[in-house]
Amino acid sequence: MYSKFSLLAALIFVASLSVNTVHAFDDNAARSKSVYQVVTDRFALTNPSDSRTCDTDDMVYCGGTWKGTEEKLDYIHGMGFDTVWISPVVQNINVTNNKLGEAYHGYWTHDINELNSHFGTEADLKSLVNTAHKKGMYIMVDVVVNHVATTQAGNFTADSSYGPFNVTTRDFHSFCWVEDYTNQTQVEVCWLGDENVALADVNTEDPTIVSTYNAWIKNLVATYDFDAIRIDTVKHVRQNFWPDFVSAAGVHAVGEVLDGDPAYVAAYQNNSMSSVFNYPLYYALDSAFNSTSKTLSDVVTALNSNKQQFKDTTLLGNFISNHDNPRFESHVTDKALIKNAVATIYGVEGIPYVYYGQEQGYTGGADPANREALWLSGYEESKDMYTYFTTMNAIRSAANNASSTYNTNQATIIGQDDHNLVIRKDPVISIVTNRGSKAATSSMSITNTGFTSATELTDVISCTPYMTDSKGAFTASVKNGLPAIFLPTSQKGSLCGNVTASTTGSSSTKSAGYRDTASIALLASLMLPVVAFMAI
Ligand SMILES: *[C@@H]1O[C@H](CO)[C@@H](O)[C@H](O)[C@H]1NC(C)=O
Ligand SMILES: *[C@@H]1O[C@H](CO)[C@@H](O)[C@H](O)[C@H]1NC(C)=O
Ligand SMILES: *[C@@H]1O[C@H](CO)[C@@H](O)[C@H](O)[C@H]1NC(C)=O
Ligand SMILES: *[C@@H]1O[C@H](CO)[C@@H](O)[C@H](O)[C@H]1NC(C)=O
Ligand SMILES: *[C@@H]1O[C@H](CO)[C@@H](O)[C@H](O)[C@H]1NC(C)=O
Ligand SMILES: *[C@@H]1O[C@H](CO)[C@@H](O)[C@H](O)[C@H]1NC(C)=O
Ligand SMILES: *[C@@H]1O[C@H](CO)[C@@H](O)[C@H](O)[C@H]1NC(C)=O
Ligand SMILES: *[C@@H]1O[C@H](CO)[C@@H](O)[C@H](O)[C@H]1NC(C)=O
Repeated sequence: MYSKFSLLAALIFVASLSVNTVHAFDDNAARSKSVYQVVTDRFALTNPSDSRTCDTDDMVYCGGTWKGTEEKLDYIHGMGFDTVWISPVVQNINVTNNKLGEAYHGYWTHDINELNSHFGTEADLKSLVNTAHKKGMYIMVDVVVNHVATTQAGNFTADSSYGPFNVTTRDFHSFCWVEDYTNQTQVEVCWLGDENVALADVNTEDPTIVSTYNAWIKNLVATYDFDAIRIDTVKHVRQNFWPDFVSAAGVHAVGEVLDGDPAYVAAYQNNSMSSVFNYPLYYALDSAFNSTSKTLSDVVTALNSNKQQFKDTTLLGNFISNHDNPRFESHVTDKALIKNAVATIYGVEGIPYVYYGQEQGYTGGADPANREALWLSGYEESKDMYTYFTTMNAIRSAANNASSTYNTNQATIIGQDDHNLVIRKDPVISIVTNRGSKAATSSMSITNTGFTSATELTDVISCTPYMTDSKGAFTASVKNGLPAIFLPTSQKGSLCGNVTASTTGSSSTKSAGYRDTASIALLASLMLPVVAFMAI
């Protein structure tokens, strides 16, 4: 009896272990993921035929729910994203008639042990995660540790409604505003927010609070079977708070360290958590792809500094838009520039994060304008950018499929001038340019490709085939200011259908020499100017 019972218990234990480990992903597995960020309140309504309006200026709950997100998982998966980052799920303060509006974004924590009922029930949240898992998708939950919210600022008195943090003097740093961001002590112990909504700074030095937070995150991840966490305001808590917290979560964690200085952000990767958002690259991309008159040198500088400062750039979270910054599309309207900025975050090492609405061409500026309701778009899957993200994610999958080291390969710049970069991350080569959609066709000689001679490549953006020459080099054509992204044709998966060199012979030949003289002459006549690339 006893042994039978323990065998059964062991089996149940093993089964429950596998249930818990099948989905959640660790840092290593995170490298292959592609993340789509939603603002839960703005992404999808429970009732798909509900078309209520949502004025972002009002800063109030517009009605998005976990059920709504669940119903739209196929829309996200359709673009090839496998991971969905959702807004914080815990109960927030209910504020009315406040200059800053309501807590629709989820960042104004009240009680960490309750859910935000505006987004649904416990069953709804479990159902979202469960359905995602059935589709082979993952849910990353946003968590806030540094503070709870209050409308009382300096007069704040915690009470039992705040759950575990219910004694003002015991649980909070004494009131002061963060004013001097160069003073790290102040950044960590003073309060964020303003007199409308203040973020009461939890005393994360206190051992009891540390264990409360660690037990909480462990329980949150286990209860809802979350696969990963995104951590808010990381730099506002001492660096050595984080390792135990992340280890208690037991899943991949990516942290927001909002700073453009690679050395500052890299210290958190060394001391707090392995993955952080790539703000240094974000600022460079936002500026370099903002206009055709900028050079791309800031992007190269950011990539190089990152390599020097970060111990592992392959775990950085790359993005060009999120809920805290104006959408990239709010200041860049040229589709070619937008597509090149996106191609850069996919072309270099790291994990791509895409903010909902980019695929529908949303253009909202600074918060709150960048939190538009997605249901107003009709979730059109025929939109150009929807298709473009599908291509980007398919390239990533094909490359992952083709090379077991793709996720851990660092990108190198194998060619550059003021307005073009050739990025090599084996087995993918991307040419990105900020010459804009009006740019004349240009031709680039690409060497140091890593490919052997007579390798057939396909530019999977234009679906043009190429053949490497005896040195593995080839001459690429860049049209309409769009990026060109090359994969070995044998490894491109279903991208560009069945295009082959023999079926589109005009731009390539089957011989190891890559281009016949007639097409070179034709191309040259179209080029103004001809851009020649030097291998570095
Ligand atoms: C806020 O309002 C919601 C909906 O009425 C309610 O369920 C929740 O308990 C309230 N939260 C707080 C902190 O009072
Ligand atoms: C405290 O409350 C008083 C009265 O409402 C207000 O005048 C004062 O500004 C508040 N203090 C802080 C630091 O918020
Ligand atoms: C108040 O805080 C203590 C310490 O965190 C906790 O044990 C207690 O449950 C809290 N009270 C409520 C009502 O949550
Ligand atoms: C930094 O901020 C802390 C907390 O506000 C303060 O006590 C300290 O004097 C500040 N240090 C400097 C050098 O300003
Ligand atoms: C982080 O660690 C790496 C490797 O150990 C080191 O080269 C780098 O200087 C460190 N960066 C910071 C900012 O501490
Ligand atoms: C981007 O372009 C817009 C106008 O098109 C300009 O207002 C803004 O300052 C530019 N941003 C940067 C970072 O150059
Ligand atoms: C991955 O490779 C397998 C077999 O090698 C192939 O069937 C599948 O279509 C490939 N997937 C992609 C996305 O390229
Ligand atoms: C493309 O190739 C696949 C597999 O190699 C084949 O099944 C399919 O029929 C081809 N499609 C076209 C349009 O040739």
